[in-house]
Amino acid sequence: MKQRLRRKHREKERFYEAIKDIAAHPVVLRMKLYPHHGTTNCYQHCMNVAYNNYRLCRFLHLDARSAARAGMLHDLFLYDWHTHAARTGKHFHGLTHPVEAYQNAKKFFALNKIEKDIILNHMWPVTFYRLPRTKEGWITTLTDKYCGVCETSRRKRP
Ligand SMILES: [Fe+2]
Ligand SMILES: [Fe+2]
Repeated sequence: MKQRLRRKHREKERFYEAIKDIAAHPVVLRMKLYPHHGTTNCYQHCMNVAYNNYRLCRFLHLDARSAARAGMLHDLFLYDWHTHAARTGKHFHGLTHPVEAYQNAKKFFALNKIEKDIILNHMWPVTFYRLPRTKEGWITTLTDKYCGVCETSRRKRP
């Protein structure tokens, strides 16, 4: 039991080590201002996706670091999507926000191919014309939806 807890603690430390520069960046912290699913804000949602990505990709011997970092950035669109269409007249947030998040993320962080794939293609199959090209990208299409459902139904631990 103690060993399991220690292992989990070590895994959380390694996870945080992989994302800490992103998690503490002022632009990324702005996501805390925007509600996302249920009572969860964009920042917490991205943290949830990042952590699930990290765990799953480590388990599958994939690039857990890139999956965690892109998880933190995948919804960096920086507006409240609930009121966005009424305020700007721009509809189709579900289709357009991956490109907005990518444009914002690449201004502040050097993104590798996996990270770019995760951010741009995480909305598949809503964006049916944008298929993930990496295993980490496919995993994010699942973790994103899993976290979204958990957050919307207010479960404590997505
Ligand atoms: Fe998204
Ligand atoms: Fe998301």
